[in-house]
Amino acid sequence: MARRQARRHGDGRWLPWLGLALLPLAVPPAAAPPGGCPSACYCVATPELEQCRYERLEEPPQELPAAVHNLSIVGSNLSVLRRAAFAARPLRQLRLLRLHHDNIQAIEDMALQGLPALRTLDLSHNPLLSVAAGAFGGAPLLRTLQLNQALLAAPLEEQLALALGNLSLRRLELAGNGLRALPAALLPAGLEELDLRNNSLQRLGAAELHSLEAPGLRKLRVSLGANPLRCDCALRPLLAWLRGAAAGRVPDARSLRCAGPPSLRGAVLLRLRPEALGCEGGEPGELETASYVFFGIVLALIGVVFLMVLYLNRRGIKRWLHNLREACRDQMEGYHYRYEQDADPRRASAAGPAGL
Ligand SMILES: *[C@@H]1O[C@H](CO)[C@@H](O)[C@H](O)[C@H]1NC(C)=O
Ligand SMILES: *[C@@H]1O[C@H](CO)[C@@H](O)[C@H](O)[C@H]1NC(C)=O
Ligand SMILES: *[C@@H]1O[C@H](CO)[C@@H](O)[C@H](O)[C@H]1NC(C)=O
Ligand SMILES: *[C@@H]1O[C@H](CO)[C@@H](O)[C@H](O)[C@H]1NC(C)=O
Repeated sequence: MARRQARRHGDGRWLPWLGLALLPLAVPPAAAPPGGCPSACYCVATPELEQCRYERLEEPPQELPAAVHNLSIVGSNLSVLRRAAFAARPLRQLRLLRLHHDNIQAIEDMALQGLPALRTLDLSHNPLLSVAAGAFGGAPLLRTLQLNQALLAAPLEEQLALALGNLSLRRLELAGNGLRALPAALLPAGLEELDLRNNSLQRLGAAELHSLEAPGLRKLRVSLGANPLRCDCALRPLLAWLRGAAAGRVPDARSLRCAGPPSLRGAVLLRLRPEALGCEGGEPGELETASYVFFGIVLALIGVVFLMVLYLNRRGIKRWLHNLREACRDQMEGYHYRYEQDADPRRASAAGPAGL
């Protein structure tokens, strides 16, 4: 993201102006550090004019044309964005404020006072340590907040949750922040786009997915690329969500790939079959094992009962067997007898007179 913006700065409409200013130096674009300046610089744009100065600032610049629409300060050392830092000369037209790579560590209450039209604030690539609850209070129209690689220096979620609570943000960028879970507390109602690419998410669990279905977040689209997704049993809820209700809510869903386990590394998430997630050890697997065990116990019980019945009835059974054997023997003897009689006519004829 940052790189793309950097390139936009470098290759875009800024280039003719930069080229003129730097003709003698002939700085190759590849050498440009983040932000598109050959070194620390700040650029202002009014509808008529775009202008950069190569200067490393310690404070936001004080002397700016009132008609400034865009202001970008890159590679400076601003350290602390103080209360009313921009209020000495209010910039009523300012819509975009880009403060990239400026070593900003703290943002005080009402730091954006004097910027009533501000729509987009980019604080990416700063080692933020503290953000006051009213940090963005002076910018009621703020819609896009970019905090890519800005939350790596300290755990800031609680402070940010307070600071963002009153805003009507539409787009929030949190790429490259090492996040391990959905920062649900940071999502103001009405948010429409959330960039979570290049974090440390292994999955989104059922509870996290549920929080994305809150009434204020139904329109939210979440980018999840470049996270170390772990394709094991615990990924099932996310996979089901991606395939079902969330179709379209994760713009980069088709490009998501497994980062682990090793056997599935690189596999396309949406092409995984449910069996591939290997759920033996997981919850559903346990359920299956349990039902097998139950089935086995029932079978064993039936067997034991059967044996008991046999045992308790052993006399009766013996008697019954005995009777059966007797009956059989009688029958067989009868047959035998008749057979012998029928088989030997001489004996039969001989027996006749003998019987007589
Ligand atoms: C300010 O920046 C935005 C976004 O980069 C751009 O669309 C717009 O044209 C810029 N405005 C001016 C006056 O340069
Ligand atoms: C940035 O500014 C602070 C004080 O504002 C200073 O202590 C620090 O050394 C500066 N850092 C650099 C790299 O110039
Ligand atoms: C949030 O807004 C309410 C009223 O809209 C206000 O009373 C409160 O001070 C605001 N909080 C912050 C941190 O700006
Ligand atoms: C991803 O984020 C890390 C910091 O979390 C950063 O060092 C790395 O450059 C980022 N990668 C990309 C491609 O932006």
